[in-house]
Amino acid sequence: MNFFLYIILAATPLIGTAANIVPQPAFMEVRPGSLQVPEVITVAGDNSEKVAEQLQRHGFEASSLQQGTDPLLQTIVNDFPHPDEYSLEVTPNGVSIAAGDKAGLFYGVETLTQLIEQAQDGKIECCVIEDRPRFGYRGMMLDVVRCYQPIDEIKKIVDVASQLKINRLHLHLTDDNGWRMEIKQYPKLTEVGAWRVDRPEIFPARANPKEGEPTTYGGYYTQEELRDLVAYAANRHITVIPEIEMPAHAVAAIASYPDLACPVLDEFVGVLPGIGGHAAAIIMCAGKDSTLQFVRNVLDEVMDVFPSPYIHLGGDEANKKNWEKCPLCQQRIADQDLKDCEELQGWFMDQINSYVQSKGRQTIGWDEVTYGSPKQPMTIMGWQGDGSVAVDYARATGAPFIMTPALRTYFIRYQGPQWFEPFTYFGNITLKDVHEFDPVHQDWTPEMAAQLQGIQGSMWTEFCRTPQDVQYMVFPRLIALADAAWRPQGSGDWQSFVTALDHFLPRLDKADVAYARSMYNIQHTLRPNGDGTVTLTAECIRPDAEITVSSDKEGMEPVIYAAPIVLRESQTLTLQASVGDSIKGQPLMLDVDFNPATGRSVDAKNISNGYGYALTNGIRGSLRNSDFEWAGWHNRDAAFVVDLGSEQTITKVTLGALGNANLCIAFPRQVKLYGAGDDWNFHLIGSISWPTSKLYPTDALTHDYDFSLFTANGVRYIRIEATNPGPVPDGMPREGAPTWICFDEIMIN
Ligand code: ACM
Ligand code: ZN
Repeated sequence: MNFFLYIILAATPLIGTAANIVPQPAFMEVRPGSLQVPEVITVAGDNSEKVAEQLQRHGFEASSLQQGTDPLLQTIVNDFPHPDEYSLEVTPNGVSIAAGDKAGLFYGVETLTQLIEQAQDGKIECCVIEDRPRFGYRGMMLDVVRCYQPIDEIKKIVDVASQLKINRLHLHLTDDNGWRMEIKQYPKLTEVGAWRVDRPEIFPARANPKEGEPTTYGGYYTQEELRDLVAYAANRHITVIPEIEMPAHAVAAIASYPDLACPVLDEFVGVLPGIGGHAAAIIMCAGKDSTLQFVRNVLDEVMDVFPSPYIHLGGDEANKKNWEKCPLCQQRIADQDLKDCEELQGWFMDQINSYVQSKGRQTIGWDEVTYGSPKQPMTIMGWQGDGSVAVDYARATGAPFIMTPALRTYFIRYQGPQWFEPFTYFGNITLKDVHEFDPVHQDWTPEMAAQLQGIQGSMWTEFCRTPQDVQYMVFPRLIALADAAWRPQGSGDWQSFVTALDHFLPRLDKADVAYARSMYNIQHTLRPNGDGTVTLTAECIRPDAEITVSSDKEGMEPVIYAAPIVLRESQTLTLQASVGDSIKGQPLMLDVDFNPATGRSVDAKNISNGYGYALTNGIRGSLRNSDFEWAGWHNRDAAFVVDLGSEQTITKVTLGALGNANLCIAFPRQVKLYGAGDDWNFHLIGSISWPTSKLYPTDALTHDYDFSLFTANGVRYIRIEATNPGPVPDGMPREGAPTWICFDEIMIN
């Protein structure tokens, strides 16, 4: 086998039929002939005992043979140009895997297990695979704070991740909501910090704890358990990177050792069960030497337990409100000749960073660590938005960076049509979106591209209560992330990926790992055409799915969805995906309700989210404000005009609104209704005010603003003006945050 051929062939598409491997290999060629796989897979060569164990973990019978005997699988670890690289050849007589290092050998064996699982009549096709990853850092972040997960559940994720050739597990061990690692020098971190009050509400709605309330939710990992996890992961070529958050996201530490906070704080601080409101602004005091010593002491134990070359120092979302008021922090700013609190964070991170680096480790920080003019080098983890903070900093400074952009690889987001998903934050990142993710921009220089270490899927667990909830959000998206991290740049075919995915998923069932089937659910879009009709578009990201559309209207036969459908009257539609003869995913019911405004055009010039079409599309929104059915105005009053197409007599107008103060959505304080004829001369028809006490509901709630008991003739244009009531009031979890006002539909009788 000539391995260097690979360099030329790397971007060549896969050839042959047996290419159902995830992540997609760089090069694969099917050859004539096949290999009969025997009952027992015999292995000889480098690391053969470990390889036999690896095969056994997959349920195969395997044994290691002495050198010189004739095995089914011959292994060799020798000089290859790249880490993690391997080459695999199947001939009618056996299999050989050559690799540049033990990790490469491990990956070659993982690929082989997928080939064997897909054997037909016990035979695998002869082939050659030349493979190596696109990125050296192929990561998965697990937040074990918001949702505590027993070590055995983490091991399950490690197992699957290793089969996907993921090689970094970033463990988010500390935050406002818990401290999960035993620190022998500071026992209260786990006696106090690992436990919080157990509130039944969803994360953003959970009230802060009161002093003396029982703290019953939580848990932590002993150092022994973590060492065991580290070894377990290392055996699967995964490095566990510990993250200790500082100076913010540290309320659990401060609840355990209140002296870590600025002295300006004179209130009870408990481990937060939710977002925390003003308490999330409680961060470590950068003015006290004792805080720095605490962090160094903690990191000594962390570095002792985790041999990882990288230590993650957090550094994100530090609210500097208390630092502004703290005499010690201000003194530090003066003593160190710093410009402001942002530079104080830069100085704080520099102190800790140089300590960790003096121990021979490298550090990673969330991209906010770039704000405070840091002097010590760090690897930047780009998370905000599309990751541009990290990209810009890397371009300016040459710093190494890792991309886990919230908009592309945060698994906390919805993975499919939101009506079917468990409640969570923000918008959608589908399996397909993750598969398509390519962090490298076209305008990057080769040097810039080389600074990029790799990509990571990040699982924040605020909305999870069980390990199964976590796994549901992680899988199958981690499989797509692994593919994006491994396959050559510019390659990756979506249909081939889902076919390979289908072969992989039974492993999750076998390993008792929960996963989502959201890729089969249907996303609808209903758009008003301006002429009183509405166009329905239906989309399922599975390229092989067929969608059947049925209606409850007399005489309407079910049809296979082939193109957008124009709707002219009220009806209930049911959409169902199938693949072959199998029904897949959940049925989508659409109650389309026509009224004189339905299908009419909306002019909403100052809208913030672009979903003005939702107001007249004949369908109501769900309690999820991000389900594409809510027209939203952020931090401003709303105004829009609907053109009914001709002058009409109207007697009732209803405007549907949503409130959820914990997601920064308020009800409008006042809604005014105006009408105009063809002359565009508007007259006030009515005005509704909503009491202050009801403007900021603490849970998702809809309310219809009803204008009735009037008759208006000759109305062609309806104008709505709605007043945003302003930021979330003090004392609520999102206090001070600007609010949205959101409407799903305007209905006219
Ligand atoms: C982050 O999501 N705050 C890193
Ligand atoms: Zn301070």
